[in-house]
Amino acid sequence: MPVPDPATKPARKRILTGDRPTSEAFHLGNYVGTLANRVRLQDEYETFLLLADLHLLTTRTTDLEEIGHNIHGLVLDYLSAGIDHAKTTIYLQSLVPEVLELTWIFMSLVSVPRAQRIPTLKEQVRDLKLESASMALLAYPILQAADILMVKGDLVPVGKDQLSHIELTRETARRFNDFFGPVFPVPEGLVGQVATLPGLDGKAKMGKSLGNAIFLTDDAQTIERKVMSMYTDPTRIHATDPGHLRGNPVFMYHDAFNDDREEVEDLKKRYRKGKVGDVEVKRLLAQALNRFLDPIRERRASFAARPGLVDEIIREGSARAREECRRTLAEAREAMGLTYFRDATTVQVTR
Ligand code: TRP
Repeated sequence: MPVPDPATKPARKRILTGDRPTSEAFHLGNYVGTLANRVRLQDEYETFLLLADLHLLTTRTTDLEEIGHNIHGLVLDYLSAGIDHAKTTIYLQSLVPEVLELTWIFMSLVSVPRAQRIPTLKEQVRDLKLESASMALLAYPILQAADILMVKGDLVPVGKDQLSHIELTRETARRFNDFFGPVFPVPEGLVGQVATLPGLDGKAKMGKSLGNAIFLTDDAQTIERKVMSMYTDPTRIHATDPGHLRGNPVFMYHDAFNDDREEVEDLKKRYRKGKVGDVEVKRLLAQALNRFLDPIRERRASFAARPGLVDEIIREGSARAREECRRTLAEAREAMGLTYFRDATTVQVTR
């Protein structure tokens, strides 16, 4: 049976990135953090986008029926944000079980203390009030490394909180290559231009569970209401008081989403001098956000009207991703010398 050359290189550089299907919709923080990068880069890179349901199982053991519903919503959000499924392979992690075999191989290359040093692990244990981490939660970043390396990802657009996982991925790739031969690229993480968008309440981070988020699916009235309730400069009592721009979420949103740069500069100037009220600044922000969201809303409605579309995208994308993963796994096994009974293994692939 023909076995592909070790270290076969894909023609174009690759992106792999993904999301846990924890909820049914993305918010503006997700958009500026990673979605915008994914949309921008899908022409230049061969892009794989995974829905990490196996990762979700590391912290969730109830309401699992909801996951399918969430996946559906997130795929519609991808499409409406501008991700094109003809360019980007959208797939479901659990439909590519080979990733677990690679995870198992990688687990031998990562020590327990190294895995315990990952900051997100401590955060999860604290935030979810767990007594201690499960084996699966400890292995979370190793599974992520397998996701990325399985498709030989070169670039990984992620939120800032994920960079420690990318670092572990890089170490694991280097270690495998040193031990067994050059199979994996050493990938780079890429954080969005606005690394973290503050919440409506002025908290450092926008989050669904924090109740301070604007969703891509919010309608115009909801945007209006949410923006009007936003936290601004707390030192400013009257519209004639000079205002502060630093740490003011209203202006951070203007910077991130208002396409009318002149308007933003003018508002900033007047705000600093105490020549514009918060209500006007917010009203113009709500308008800008609705201008930004209108085409997204239109695309969403047209995709949502096509029954079976999401299922088909997932089915086809997962088959395509699975083929890539099988090929990489065959290379990894070959490099490791796991060639006994090769003809009987399920990782036969043809190029
Ligand atoms: N851990 C990521 C998150 O919670 C999701 C994820 C899983 C991912 N596998 C990935 C992101 C691979 C990038 C690459 O956001």
